[in-house]
Amino acid sequence: MAGGYYGRFGGRFVSETLIPALSQLEEAFTAFKRDEAFCRRFRKILSEYAGRPTPVTFASNFSKAYGLNLYLKREDLLHTGAHKINNTIGQGLLAKFMGKRRVIAETGAGQHGVATATAAALLGLECTVYMGSLDAERQRINVERMKLLGAEVRVVEEGSRTLKDAINAALRDWVRNVRDTHYLIGSVVGPHPFPEVVAHFQSVIGEEARGQFEAMGFMPDVVVACVGGGSNAIGIFRGFVDEETELVGVEAGGLSDEPGRHARTLGLGRPGILHGAFSYLLYDEHGNITDVHSISAGLDYPGVGPEHSFLKESGRVRYEHCRDDDALFAFKELSRLEGIIPALESAHALGYVVKNSPQMSGKNVLVNLSGRGDKDLSIVLGGKG
Ligand SMILES: Cc1ncc(COP(=O)(O)O)c(C=O)c1O
Repeated sequence: MAGGYYGRFGGRFVSETLIPALSQLEEAFTAFKRDEAFCRRFRKILSEYAGRPTPVTFASNFSKAYGLNLYLKREDLLHTGAHKINNTIGQGLLAKFMGKRRVIAETGAGQHGVATATAAALLGLECTVYMGSLDAERQRINVERMKLLGAEVRVVEEGSRTLKDAINAALRDWVRNVRDTHYLIGSVVGPHPFPEVVAHFQSVIGEEARGQFEAMGFMPDVVVACVGGGSNAIGIFRGFVDEETELVGVEAGGLSDEPGRHARTLGLGRPGILHGAFSYLLYDEHGNITDVHSISAGLDYPGVGPEHSFLKESGRVRYEHCRDDDALFAFKELSRLEGIIPALESAHALGYVVKNSPQMSGKNVLVNLSGRGDKDLSIVLGGKG
C-alpha cells in the first residue's frame, strides 16, 4: 500500500467534510501502532477477553472423506462467534486513543454489529448500529443481542434494505457527528485508511496461523477464505502472502451468474467507486449498483476491499465462487463429520474445497473458519436466503 492505494485501487472518494476526519484517523492510526501501552492493551484484551490465540484444528474425518488434509483456523471459537471481534476491539481502542466518545457501525449478518456493541460495552463507548431492514428480519436474534449490549439499533428502510444501504446511512451519520464519533467500519472497505486499519487488526489471524504451521514444521499448500468485504481473507492471507502457498478467495455464487442472483464482485464485476474507494463492484450499464444475493447475509455485498482488487489483478490470489447449495452442503458436512457448525459465510470456503477436492488430493489445505453457524440455523432449517 502506498499513498492510500493498492496498485490502482483504494483512495479516498468522499465529501470534503470527511477529509479532515480521515486524515486525523490516518495520523492517529500511525501513532497508535507505535504506542506500546495501547498495543499491549490490544493484545491483552484479545487474549484475556476474546479468546486468542485460536487453535488450528486438523479435521481428520473430513480429510479422510475428501482425500486431503484439511486444517481449520478456528475464529469461530472467539467471543461473539466470529473474527469480527479482532477489528472491533482494535478500532474501539483507536477511538479512545483519538478521544472519541461514540462509535457507529453498519452490519449485514449482525456479527459486526454485535462485535461492535460488545467492544463498546467493554470500553465504555456509546454505540449506534445501522442495519438494513431485510437483514434485521433475517438476523433478529443479533438485533436483540446488540440491544442487550447497550447499543441503539437503527433500521434502514431505503434501497435494497441490506448492507450497502446501512453503510450509506452510517456515512451520513458520520458526516454530521464526526467531531465526537468514530465510524467503526466492519471490513477492509471504505476510504483510506479504513482498509489498512481493518487489515492491520485482522492480520493477527494470519500471523498466528503462520506460527502454528511453523511449529508443525511445514506450510499449507493452499489457504482458502470466504470474501464478503474481505477482512477475514486479508487477515489470513497476510500471514502467507510471502510464501509459495496458493491463496484462494471464495465469493458468494448465490443461485446463478444472472445479475441480482449472486455476489461475485471480483468474478463478474468491474472497477468503479463505491463507499469512498475505487475497487471492483457490481453495477449495470447505467452505473447503478446491482442487487446481490447470497444465502449468507455476511457475503451479500456488491463491493469488495481494494486490496483484493489489487491481489486479483496482480495474480497473487485466485478468486473463485461457491453457490448457495454447495455452501449449504458443506455447512451440513462439517457439522456431521467434525462436530463443528460453521457460519454460512465460512461454509462457502469449505464448499469450494469439497467441490474441488479431486484437484486438491493429498494437499495440506487451510480454511479460515471465520465464524460459527448458530446464527444461521433458522436460514438453514427454513431453506431460505
Ligand atoms: C462469520 C463471517 N465470516 C465472513 C464474513 C464476511 O466478511 P469479511 O469478508 O469482511 O470477512 C462475515 C460478515 O459478516 C461473517 O460474519
